[in-house]
Amino acid sequence: MAIKILTPAEIDGMRVVGRLAAETLLHVADHLEVGMTTQDIDDLVHKHTIASGCTPATLGYRGFPKSVCTSINEVVCHGIPDKTKLRDGDIVNIDVTSIFPAKNGFFGDTSATFYIGGVSPMGRHVTEVARWSLELGIAAVRPGARLNDIGHAIQAYAEGKGCSVVRDYTGHGIHRVFHDEPSVLHYGRLGPSPKLKAGMCFTIEPMINLGGYQVDVLADKWTVVTSDRTLSAQFEHTIVVTETGCEVLTARPRALRWSEDAAGARLGPLSCFTPAP
Ligand code: MF3
Ligand code: CO
Ligand code: CO
Repeated sequence: MAIKILTPAEIDGMRVVGRLAAETLLHVADHLEVGMTTQDIDDLVHKHTIASGCTPATLGYRGFPKSVCTSINEVVCHGIPDKTKLRDGDIVNIDVTSIFPAKNGFFGDTSATFYIGGVSPMGRHVTEVARWSLELGIAAVRPGARLNDIGHAIQAYAEGKGCSVVRDYTGHGIHRVFHDEPSVLHYGRLGPSPKLKAGMCFTIEPMINLGGYQVDVLADKWTVVTSDRTLSAQFEHTIVVTETGCEVLTARPRALRWSEDAAGARLGPLSCFTPAP
């Protein structure tokens, strides 16, 4: 099946919801504290999403019970908010997906990994490699490039830094459908791969592990952990291919507390600081 090309009006709709999802992630970042529970994060996301005029896309999605995914340390993705407290030294990924029914039901999907208090050098390493993996993936997007160029760029970088790239979960096409074609691999695969065209919308969301790339799903049928229980980090943006490159639809108008602020001034040129026009 062909990859959907969005019209300019549809891209406008994606811009609106992308910005709202980004604002929700910023709001959570402003309220993170050592000792709060992942359920507290869920409450923050739920209230802020609704106040923005959106609906949390994960709530009830294929039976997922909460409004956000919270993935701590060895949890790769799809962690379910509960009574677990954020402890000093944790890294936690917070993954927000909003639907904006008022704009014909477009989805915006974005996540970041946060440093809770003082994080070990290993925790910081895997988090910074994940942050730059997303940046390099975004930099590979332009009309005429191949979809697989994204994963190739990410894998070469992340493995060069001694980390591994999760294979079982990928980025995805996104518009009025949460998870559509194409699957956006974060590792390189030989063989044919579609050419990118202006108007294609998808997420890039590399999951980077400190140890091996293998993962397990826990008995709750959602929580994905590294098989060797080493740390894992992830960042995600929703993007659209433009005539000249791409536009980050979930770009943030300011730096994320507990993450980008802690990462240092060299983050200046990141696309996450370049809000959509
Ligand atoms: N937001 C996740 C993604 O990036 C999907 C979460 S689906 C859920 O694709 F059901 F686990 F919430
Ligand atoms: Co996604
Ligand atoms: Co997501």
